[in-house]
This record gives sequence, structure tokens and C-alpha cells, in this order.
Amino acid sequence: MEKAWWQQSTIYQIYPRSFNDTNGDGIGDLQGIIEKLDYLQLLGIDIIWLSPVYQSPNDDNGYDISNYYDIMDDFGTMEDMERLIEEAKKRDIHIMMDLVINHTSDEHPWFMESRKSKDNPYRDYYIWRESQDGPPSDIQSVFSGFAWERDEQSGEYYFHLFSKKQPDLNLHNPEVREHLYNMMNFWLSKGVSGFRMDVIDLIGKEIDEKVLTNGPKLHEYLQEMNERVLSQYPTVTVGETPSATPETAQLYTGKGRNELDMVFTFQHMSLDERAGEGKWALKELDFVELKKVLSTWQTSLFQKGWNSLYWNNHDQPRIVSRWGDDQEYRVESAKMLATVLHMMQGTPFIYQGEEIGMTNIDWDNISRYRDIETINYFHEKRSEGVPEKEIIQSIRAKGRDNARTPFQWNDEAHAGFTNSVPWIEVNENYPEINALQAMENQDSIFYHYQKLIALRKRLDILIYGEYELLLEDHPEIMAYTRKWEGQTLLVVANFYGGNPDFHLPEGLDEAHGEMIISNYSDTREKPSGIGRLRPYEAVVYILNDREE
Ligand code: GLC
Ligand code: CA
Repeated sequence: MEKAWWQQSTIYQIYPRSFNDTNGDGIGDLQGIIEKLDYLQLLGIDIIWLSPVYQSPNDDNGYDISNYYDIMDDFGTMEDMERLIEEAKKRDIHIMMDLVINHTSDEHPWFMESRKSKDNPYRDYYIWRESQDGPPSDIQSVFSGFAWERDEQSGEYYFHLFSKKQPDLNLHNPEVREHLYNMMNFWLSKGVSGFRMDVIDLIGKEIDEKVLTNGPKLHEYLQEMNERVLSQYPTVTVGETPSATPETAQLYTGKGRNELDMVFTFQHMSLDERAGEGKWALKELDFVELKKVLSTWQTSLFQKGWNSLYWNNHDQPRIVSRWGDDQEYRVESAKMLATVLHMMQGTPFIYQGEEIGMTNIDWDNISRYRDIETINYFHEKRSEGVPEKEIIQSIRAKGRDNARTPFQWNDEAHAGFTNSVPWIEVNENYPEINALQAMENQDSIFYHYQKLIALRKRLDILIYGEYELLLEDHPEIMAYTRKWEGQTLLVVANFYGGNPDFHLPEGLDEAHGEMIISNYSDTREKPSGIGRLRPYEAVVYILNDREE
């Protein structure tokens, strides 16, 4: 079987604004990333996904692009970018750019032209509608309020699914697509290795029919993009697809479809919200459902497509606070969550700070938050009369700033992120939780991630093995096998802080095997019957075939 280069890779996401500041303006920058490449090399990752570094007025921290061909002033220059690509390459690290083509900034020259008049040649680059009495339709923005903004100049409304400073491009215009393909080729020819595609399931939308995701032309456009751009280079691509199901994922990633390499599912991320009410409607995690969702993705894409594997990114709260225990068992639960994820089939993503077990923040006052989604949500709910306390509770659990506080490098001022005032406050737990501390401790979360990354390179079973869920209905244990060429990999993890009882299925219960990783340093080799697990304990074995 042919192995694609990115199948045994691990991808590390950097949110540049919060990673490392080298010029003392309180904002992370490209030089700051270059400075930490050795750290990333030690961790063992293969690809860096850079959240947007293009020119932007930062209404949504770079996801509002005003020039695709230049670097944001806060982050540095094109020379810095070229240096980053070159220095990463020296360490066998690829760079994956964030590709934001569902919308631009309203300060992009195309939009500035487009809004000038109804007959401007750029008018049709965006989505404009006439309406006499209020917004043309009731479609809501992801960032609160209507997805329509009335523009004074022509009296028409433009469509923006995100902030009003992020007007949606009209991808049905072939000229727009042409520009975007040229831009992608520009970056690939500079030496980047691929793209993470922002909300790519939206690009075929038909506004008048109120079809947003999975529009009729979506796959046609992706195939065109593949032909015109992606197939010309040895790229790696991942689509951000909030709407994807195991079925549609096969359309994006299926062999012979010539679209993308993988997509991000959101199904597992929605299991701690009340169905249909959106991310802020808190509910306890449905753990049995979590196992089911992850397993369905594993089995549906087996030998058909390819999975991405993630717990974290710049839009999600920190996983150790969310589904682990960020207090007493922070280290154990962070390692358990990593183990369960990295032993599955797919390409794992690590979000900056996850590898040292960074946690959520617990800020009560809205003035400390910086994220536009959070701030808009707060004001919208306040105006509806929802008590502040209730809103803040959701924001503490789900707000995107949880992931965006500065990287904690050491226990010096501002966690070593900057020598001036950071653009967003540092999590106050940095004296205990930081990279320096992690590097000096052989039992740290950091070294556990390092081992997981190395195992993926060493064991083909992790790439090819067929997945099977065990103990489906067990309320505390996550267990599964991967089978490949007469070998069985067995993963058993306690997802909670108790000492649950469980019995592995016959055959597995008394097989003997080699333990390849665990999250308690004193776990001894033991028959895979395993007995009780300690809080958040996770163990992985390679079992020998019984006949042998
Ligand atoms: C994606 C990004 C998010 C951004 C949004 C609009 O969901 O991950 O950070 O706000 O798209 O670009
Ligand atoms: Ca800086």
C-alpha cells in the first residue's frame, strides 16, 4: 500500500499572535516562530499549520484578509516569511498556510472597489442584494446578528456570514476563482506545502435558496482547485468543514475524487452542547456518544478517505480543561487524551500549548476578553436581558480566548512570551505550567507527545491498522483495537477520575503483549486483562497473535 507523506506526519498549529514576541510589541511574530523551530523539532512534528499571517486589519485576528500577497505588519515582512520557510525546511518541517477564501476583509481593494457602485467591475466579486424593508433574508451571522449589512453608498446589502468586516466572496464568479488559484500558486511556488482551508464547505453556497454549506457547486470547485493548483505540487490539505458527516467526508477525501486530503469534523466537538442550540448552550459531555462518533469516522473512512485527528485549535477551549481534569490529574488526563487520539487512524493535529497541558482561563470580566465572537455574543445576550453571570459561564467554558492566551514558555514575566504588555493576558498558572518546566521533566506531557509522534513513524499499524471499538457502552472506559498484518494494537483508557471495573472481550483478556506507551510512569508490563485502571490511566499494547 502506498503511504502518502503526510499520513505519518503530525501537524502542529501555531496561532502566531500568541506564540512568541521578539520585538517587544506584545504580539507574537514570524521571528518568534523561527526562534522556536528547534523546540518544535525536538517535539518531532512534521508540519506547521500557521493561522493567517497575511495583511489584515485584525477584526478577526487575521481571518479577515486585506492582501493575500503580503504579511501582516504585526508579524513581520515577506523576508521573514521566506526565512521561516527556509529554516523550517532545514529541520524537515513543512509549512501549511491558512487559506481564507470564503471572505476577505472589507479593507481588501476588491471590496473597496465593489462597494463603490452597482456597475463597478468588482461588484460581482461579493454578494449584494437589494431590499427595501430590512435585510434581504433572515440568515444569521456566526458572530451574532444578521448576515447582511446595508451599505450607504448604493443602499444595497452585502452578505457576511462572519463579522461585517468579513464580506463573503462570490465564488460563483470564475474571475474570483481564477485570482484565488493564482494566489495559491504564488504561495506554493514560495515553498509552502499546503493549505488548511477555512470554512471551505461554504464556497458553493446559494444564498437565495438559503443553502450555505454543501452547495451544489462545492465539489466542482474543489476539483477545479485541485486540478489548477493542488495537483501541481506535493501538497497536504485539510478542509475546515463544520457541516461534514462521515458520508460527505468521503466526497472530499475519497480516493480518485481529487479534492482534499482530509477534513476537520466538528461532530465530536458538539457533544457538550445542547443539540441544535449552538456552542454556548452548555451540557455535560455525552461520553458514550463521543466514542460512537469518533468510531464512526474511523470505520467510515477506512481505506476510503483519511481522517484528521484533533481535540484543540484556536476556536476551541483547551481539551484538558474541557474533557480532562485540569487540577489534580492535569498531567495524567492530558496524556490520556493525547494517547486516545494519536493511536487512531488519521493525521493528528496538536494546537500550540496542548503539548504542555495549557488550560482554560477563568476570567469573569468581559473587558479581559479579546475575541470578536465572544464580545459580540456577550453584548447580544446582555441586550436580550440574560444575566451577566450566565453569559460568562458559557464564555469561560467555550470562548475562543481560552486557546489564545500567550504560549507559556517559562516562569519569567509574561511567561517569557514578551518583554512588554501582551495583547491578551497570560494565564496566571504560567509559573507552574510552562515549556521550560516540561522540558526539564522526563515525565512531562511534552515528552509523552514526543513519544506518540515517534511511534507513528515507527509502527505501520498506526497508519494502516483497522479500527474496532470495544466496550461500546462503558460509561468511563474508551478501548479499541487496530489490526494489521497479524498484529493487534490495544488501547485502553480511563476517561474519568475513578477506578472503573471492566472486562475486555474474550481473546484480548488474556493475550500477552508488549506495552508500548502508558501515562503513568510506574505502569508495569501486565497481561492485557489489565485489572483496574487508575484515574485517567491509559495503556497501549501490541499483542501477539495467539497462534504464534
Ligand atoms: C474559521 C476560523 C475562525 C474564523 C472563521 C472566519 O472558523 O477557524 O477562527 O473566525 O473561520 O474566518
Ligand atoms: Ca512582535
